Amino acid sequence: MKQIKKVAIVGTGVIGASWAAFYLNKGFQVNAFDPAPDAEVNLRNRVQTYLLDLIELDQACDKDTVDHVADTLKKLVFFNNLIDAVKDADFIQENGPERIDLKQDLYAQITQNCPEDTIVASSSSGLKISDIQNNCLHPERIVLGHPFNPPHLLPLVEIIGGEKTDQRYIKDAFDFYQKLGKKPILIHKEVKGHVANRLQSAIWREAFYLVSEGVCSAEDIDIAISNGPGLRWAIFGPYLNMQLANQQGFKAAMHHLGGPMSEWWADMHAYTLSEEKIELLSEETEKFISKLGDKDLQSLRDTALLDILKMRKKMDLP
Ligand SMILES: NC(=O)c1ccc[n+]([C@@H]2O[C@H](COP(=O)([O-])OP(=O)(O)OC[C@H]3O[C@@H](n4cnc5c(N)ncnc54)[C@H](O)[C@@H]3O)[C@@H](O)[C@H]2O)c1
Repeated sequence: MKQIKKVAIVGTGVIGASWAAFYLNKGFQVNAFDPAPDAEVNLRNRVQTYLLDLIELDQACDKDTVDHVADTLKKLVFFNNLIDAVKDADFIQENGPERIDLKQDLYAQITQNCPEDTIVASSSSGLKISDIQNNCLHPERIVLGHPFNPPHLLPLVEIIGGEKTDQRYIKDAFDFYQKLGKKPILIHKEVKGHVANRLQSAIWREAFYLVSEGVCSAEDIDIAISNGPGLRWAIFGPYLNMQLANQQGFKAAMHHLGGPMSEWWADMHAYTLSEEKIELLSEETEKFISKLGDKDLQSLRDTALLDILKMRKKMDLP
């Protein structure tokens, strides 16, 4: 794989800004582009905050924190046009809006203007690379590099190519993310929503269904997950948790739980959103939030996340 020194971030919204902080913290020069009017100011503000998270996570800043952040920010260059941002990039992380027509157009422009062997990785949450790479020059280097929000903290990156992607670039992207300390997984077949988002939406579907049907409140659902299975999921996933559900291991657990679980699956229903349901679910969520006082939920989540990540690192969890 070619040596990577300069990473281009195309689209600097929620995900792009977080990726920018991640790459800057790893020592790369970062070129950024976003057409929104206040994009540069917003990006610099967000990156500054995220760099503080990363310093705390790494616990490895021997300099004054303010100086360190200021030095790191010097490696961030914002461009007012896409061409200059990508023309000498060694790796491109694309984070534009999740619309296939827009992505196809954007990829045509990116690939006509960047070096021909530069990997272009899409953060897309659910679009297929085969669709995105349709109008590209050298489509063989287009891959999925799908992070979980916020990418500067969460290690998961889902990787897959499209019909025209060369296996060599998929492997290079995998190795690149892994060397940077990410936990990449390689997906073997293109499916809408990839893997982690499908799992997440399976839970959300049932969470919305149960509240819509009046089985329990939104607060009950959140308490149930965060104080029950969610605690275990931060340690092991569904397979290792099933292994531990029975003293004889996975197969015995499946023989024990498989029958009742199949009945629950048969009892679960397709769920389609409507404006009415969104209204109801939103009111339910507001009721829960109003009980929490004036807590800053985002900062609470990100502070707790840092502690969980430190614990996972210390215990070398898979
Ligand atoms: N938000 C999440 O939780 C999440 C998680 C993982 C992946 N993603 C994916 O990341 C991508 C970005 O999502 P987001 O949540 O950051 O959205 P966002 O709306 O916060 O950011 C999108 C950015 O793209 C910019 N943009 C618009 N047109 C552009 C163009 N032609 N070229 C470059 N930039 C352009 C917008 O100005 C905006 O800043 C999407 O593909 C999404 O599916 C989102």
